[in-house]
Amino acid sequence: MLATAALLAAGCDEQQDSLAPRSHAAKDIASLFWWMMGISWFGIGLVVALIMLAWRRAHTKRGHSVKEGEQLAFRIVIGAGIVMPIALIAALFVISDILVIKTTQAPAADATRMTILVTGHQWWWQANYLGTTAVTANEIHIPVNTPVRVEVQTADVIHSFWVPRLNRTIDTMPGKRNAIELYADAVGRYRGQCDEFCGLQHAHMGFYVFADPPSVFRRWLARQEQPAKAPTGALAAQGAKLFQTSSCASCHAIRGTAASGDVGPDLTHVGSRTTLAALAIPNDPAHLARWISDSQSIKPGNQMPNMNLSTGQVQALTAYLEGLR
Ligand code: CUA
Repeated sequence: MLATAALLAAGCDEQQDSLAPRSHAAKDIASLFWWMMGISWFGIGLVVALIMLAWRRAHTKRGHSVKEGEQLAFRIVIGAGIVMPIALIAALFVISDILVIKTTQAPAADATRMTILVTGHQWWWQANYLGTTAVTANEIHIPVNTPVRVEVQTADVIHSFWVPRLNRTIDTMPGKRNAIELYADAVGRYRGQCDEFCGLQHAHMGFYVFADPPSVFRRWLARQEQPAKAPTGALAAQGAKLFQTSSCASCHAIRGTAASGDVGPDLTHVGSRTTLAALAIPNDPAHLARWISDSQSIKPGNQMPNMNLSTGQVQALTAYLEGLR
């Protein structure tokens, strides 16, 4: 048990901890968890106490006559075995499926509220800010203390969108749009994760939600809405040209250029993101170069093919993409 506990505790970390909530919905979920946990431990304590009592009685040979004992046992079975569980389960059902569900639900779509359309792909997340031209991947920004409506859909199989510190999980179903609220009551970075097994790289389908002060968020969104900057420097210019003439442009979009593929993430402002490949690697020139030259060695099975580029070509593409901020 100690070894198991140590192994489990090694996974403890606040960044994805549903018991360190940062929104009203996540707080309700966390307190529901603690209530259920408390009631469960009470139940286990009661059963263990009864077993120990029976054991003691059997050894001291004292106690009620057989008839009295049978009556007592019958009452305990009815009370603790039938009436109490039904009452507790009914109460928990009402609290979890009616009260808590209500606080976690998506706010209505209206003209004043921001809606983000999140699309799950094998194995990354696309985020479109509806009503704007902003599109990003795997790093979603929201203003702090503001209820945001998130609609989720899938481009392929069932995924599940979950930011444990902010709200419950929501599935992305083929042919259907689900919605949930995204809200954070503290500025910060919150890690999210696909939590529906969706293939080889399911574990590498993470994302971040950044809750920014409103002014920072507005600046970020305004920047994301703009088309890509023109490359600066000869190497980056060479990379920009290579991007358009190679197969990069048939899978990725860079707004403001001819590249408009939608198989992979939109790269218009890829240089402004902190990570690549759905949080699999940090976004720096070394990792980006390695990703471009051989992404399969980092995330086997992902849809980006090895294009057998020369070192010079990889350097040019890296210089161009890093400059897209
Ligand atoms: Cu997507 Cu698991």
